[in-house]
Amino acid sequence: MLSLLVLISGGGSNLRSLLEASEDAEYPARVVAIGADRDADGLGLGEEFGIPTFAVNYGSYPDRAAWGDALLEQIRIWQPDLVILSGLMRLLPPRVVAALSPNLINTHPAYLPEFPGAHGVRDALAAGATQTGASIIVVDGGVDAGPIIAQERVAIEAGDSEAALHERIKLVERRLLVQAVLDIANGHVNLKEHSPA
Ligand code: GRF
Repeated sequence: MLSLLVLISGGGSNLRSLLEASEDAEYPARVVAIGADRDADGLGLGEEFGIPTFAVNYGSYPDRAAWGDALLEQIRIWQPDLVILSGLMRLLPPRVVAALSPNLINTHPAYLPEFPGAHGVRDALAAGATQTGASIIVVDGGVDAGPIIAQERVAIEAGDSEAALHERIKLVERRLLVQAVLDIANGHVNLKEHSPA
């Protein structure tokens, strides 16, 4: 049984999909803790699904490195097999990535390497793209630059708002994330092979 720790900053709708998938006794992964860098709405999923949560508030620390050390301390309590960034809107410091790699993956609402960064959906629209996508990657020291373990195209429809397009992307992200975790748990995806150089 693969133990998962999921880090969020927002509503956690992608996390909800993982939680719902892991309610199936056949699904070989379980979320053991949910963490956030703020008082994220998605932490409420912990109460709903009976899973411990924690928040390491970025603003409570003098700098990113100190925040990262505190976050790593919390993560280590749970000894997860895999840490998943699912809407964590914060770059992890190199020390944290190094400590967790390669058992650290991220979901991104674009077809990487297209449109990396915090505004992938907005950037695809601004670029006038006719398609974008969703990607699951192994986190490395870059920004959304790590090895891709799953991705799928999502069409951009005329008149799409950022919110509408993002919701359509999330439908794909959730399916890719649940499948990627399954593939990792089953050994069909070996993160060490995908681990960043
Ligand atoms: C997802 O699209 C994720 O890829 C991006 O932020 C969004 C989080 O959405 N980094 P939610 O909090 O899971 O609803």
